[in-house]
Amino acid sequence: MASSPDGLCVNDDGLVCGEVGRWAETKYRLIAYYDELFATGMKDKWDQRVYIDLYAGAGYSQIRNTDIRLKGSPILALSIAHPFDKYIFCEESNDLLEALKTRTRRTLPKADVTFVPGSCDNEIGRICKAIPQGSAGNKVLSLCLVDPFDFGIKFETIRRLSKIFVDFVVLLAVGMDAGRNYDLYVDVNHPKIDEALGNVEWRERWKKYPGGRKRFREFLAEEFALSMKSLGYLEVKPHQMKMVRSDEKNLPLYYLALFSRHSIAFQLWEQVLKYSTDQTSFSWE
Ligand SMILES: C[S@@+](CC[C@H](N)C(=O)[O-])C[C@H]1O[C@@H](n2cnc3c(N)ncnc32)[C@H](O)[C@@H]1O
Repeated sequence: MASSPDGLCVNDDGLVCGEVGRWAETKYRLIAYYDELFATGMKDKWDQRVYIDLYAGAGYSQIRNTDIRLKGSPILALSIAHPFDKYIFCEESNDLLEALKTRTRRTLPKADVTFVPGSCDNEIGRICKAIPQGSAGNKVLSLCLVDPFDFGIKFETIRRLSKIFVDFVVLLAVGMDAGRNYDLYVDVNHPKIDEALGNVEWRERWKKYPGGRKRFREFLAEEFALSMKSLGYLEVKPHQMKMVRSDEKNLPLYYLALFSRHSIAFQLWEQVLKYSTDQTSFSWE
């Protein structure tokens, strides 16, 4: 049982929840803070601010083996002081998406929301179409959260979205998935990392990378940042990313990284990193 901090915790509403580890609290706090800074900071600079969640979930998550429920990323983005002008939530599971619809209506009934059922990779055309068209008289800026369970991002999906003004917050599951499945993914025939990075040349670079296997996580983070740079995003180094670790064994799980074409976004991100703590606010008993 745990004591509940304000802001993030919610009561059981009887609807389905995704399950998360305790470390998810760190992720949610960072994302919530960045949403807040971004939406407020860009409010008077852009005509429309759009929030896109490619892997949206059910809106609430339950911490495994506890009865604690936390707001998930879409509900956090709806709960800020100056909500976005438009929201796009994509989720593969119909059950989770139905729960998200109910929670969205309850949280911000007037929000302009497009729900996209299915895989974000298959539905990227629909997602792009749902983003309001920008023009000289209607400047549109989007923030896209990419939060898959594993290193299953398809870089092609990011490339399609990057054609508009969009900043990305990406969860790079370098420890959770890529690190644990190293032997499988480095096998020449396995496409997962090729698809996530959008190239196969990383394999040659990895052979020459100093430090051996224990630096694979850092290598992947650098490679993903290089792929983003190829789309015109500013260069990001691993030390500018937040490494989230497992609570029990302090093992590296994933990097949370911001990608933007504008330095102002990194000023906001720096504030988020400064504020971030790995301490969870629950007392676990
Ligand atoms: C790690 S959870 C993230 C949930 C949400 N961002 C949060 O933290 O509250 C990943 C979610 O993505 C969904 N999912 C998995 N693959 C997907 C895909 N290709 N397209 C859209 N959703 C997907 C899963 O069903 C799951 O709900």
